[in-house]
Amino acid sequence: MDIKHIGPANPGWDFIGEVSGIDLTQPISPAEVDAIEAGMDRYGVLVFHNQHITDEQQVAFSVNFGDLEATLANVTKPEDRRLKLNIADISNLDKNNQVLAADDKRRMFNLGNMLWHSDSSFKATPAKYSLLSGRAVPKAGGDTQFADMRAAYDAFPADIQTLIEPLITEHSLIYSRGQLGFEAFDAEERRAFAPVLQRLVRTHPVTGRKSVFLSSHIGVIRGMLTPEARMRIRDLTEMATQPRFVHTHRWQAGDLVIWDNRTTMHRARRYNDTGEVRDMRRTTIEGAPTVMQQAA
Ligand code: OGA
Ligand code: MN
Repeated sequence: MDIKHIGPANPGWDFIGEVSGIDLTQPISPAEVDAIEAGMDRYGVLVFHNQHITDEQQVAFSVNFGDLEATLANVTKPEDRRLKLNIADISNLDKNNQVLAADDKRRMFNLGNMLWHSDSSFKATPAKYSLLSGRAVPKAGGDTQFADMRAAYDAFPADIQTLIEPLITEHSLIYSRGQLGFEAFDAEERRAFAPVLQRLVRTHPVTGRKSVFLSSHIGVIRGMLTPEARMRIRDLTEMATQPRFVHTHRWQAGDLVIWDNRTTMHRARRYNDTGEVRDMRRTTIEGAPTVMQQAA
């Protein structure tokens, strides 16, 4: 197995690594698990090509890195789920593999994936890794973009770093979807998506590097007036997602991409989602309790 730097061009800064010489349809060795973890700590995003895996194989590979998140946060009712295992369905398909109608509530909700975010930042224990497998990809569009929140933090002016260091934010799916005018949450969803607290600056447990924990799920900064807080989050997000911090992944069927939600943000890009099929499946590794949870 080998991991090589594929981005960005700027030397001295590792963000995207490409892994070769491994077959994810087969069990992998403890040494390979360690090497992938080390690669994740170094890069933040790892890309694997030609991995035509089943759902079972995706789960078996994923649990090498921790426990799968137990609850799937979306507006699809259990009886409407397309996938059997504990896998997030990031497709535009219903349980009969038909493309969702333009006005389907699930499609409206999924459009929120096009906002910059970190997976499950709206959970008290947010995600460690996400593993996204491209099973069917559209002819045009549907890229995924990644932004490096370590590099962004390092590039913030010192006064901004000082200002954000103590800040505590509230994250909820209701805030991110609210930015798109999506408010069709029922009472149960509103309960499930109640805001959680997160530090705006976090420290990686292995590398000790700081990063800015941004996400479109943020709607409140504690102790700050809401318009001021949201404007601040917009400014920080704009700074942190400048092209120099962003890598675009152009999907081929069989790609598997792993990202560290503790150090990166990502977003989906547009495609003809009422005409073409895009079948992506995500396993999500639960993180460790955050500083906020430890304090609670
Ligand atoms: C995700 C996600 C982006 C995409 O799977 O968490 O945000 O491009 N996906 O589908
Ligand atoms: Mn996501």
